[in-house]
Amino acid sequence: MNATHFGGSDLSSSFALQPAEFENPNLEVLFSAAQIAARVEELGANISRDYAGSAPLLIGVLKGACVFLSDLMRAIDLPLAVEFMAISSYGTGMRSTGEVRIIKDLDTAVDGRDILVVEDIIDTGLTLSYLISTLHARGARTVKLAALLDKHERREREVPIDYKGFTIPDAFVVGYGLDYAERYRNLPFVAVLKNPYN
Ligand code: IMP
Ligand code: MG
Repeated sequence: MNATHFGGSDLSSSFALQPAEFENPNLEVLFSAAQIAARVEELGANISRDYAGSAPLLIGVLKGACVFLSDLMRAIDLPLAVEFMAISSYGTGMRSTGEVRIIKDLDTAVDGRDILVVEDIIDTGLTLSYLISTLHARGARTVKLAALLDKHERREREVPIDYKGFTIPDAFVVGYGLDYAERYRNLPFVAVLKNPYN
């Protein structure tokens, strides 16, 4: 494709001034694509072993978990189904109150099912503790949690993570589904965002 497809040479030269997103100097790689892929394979093997004989329902929490879920489910060698939920947590200023609202609910019943919730990162734990108790209240047979990242220092409500990718320090991270103001979800790696205002 030549420059005219983007509307002429003026626009293509302004693209040239933009740093490529994956080499953005504001990012410090924490886990490479290869490290993540290796860990996801291990988690998938553990899940396949633990759920042998069951057909779990994977529930991805939108939007952040979509990348992790799509890789993880292809590492699970079992009959399974996939659903999505979207949740918003309320807070005043920087603090989350633990008040949570379901924005997009499941399209299927969970009673009697073995549920594996798939989340990108557990921070305070408020969102997931609400979600897990909701799924128990709806009659799920079992509810377990897979989370790519555990920011454990920030925990306010204890949430057991049955399948954990990595523990990380208290830093703001992006990539592999995680965003800052909806940007960076497409990074194939997880990185610390050095300066959010850049
Ligand atoms: P919590 O565990 O209820 O505090 O909420 C976790 C949610 O906060 C995650 O699903 C993310 O959407 C968001 N979050 C927390 N820490 C980060 C981060 O470092 N980067 C991007 N999103 C984050
Ligand atoms: Mg999220």
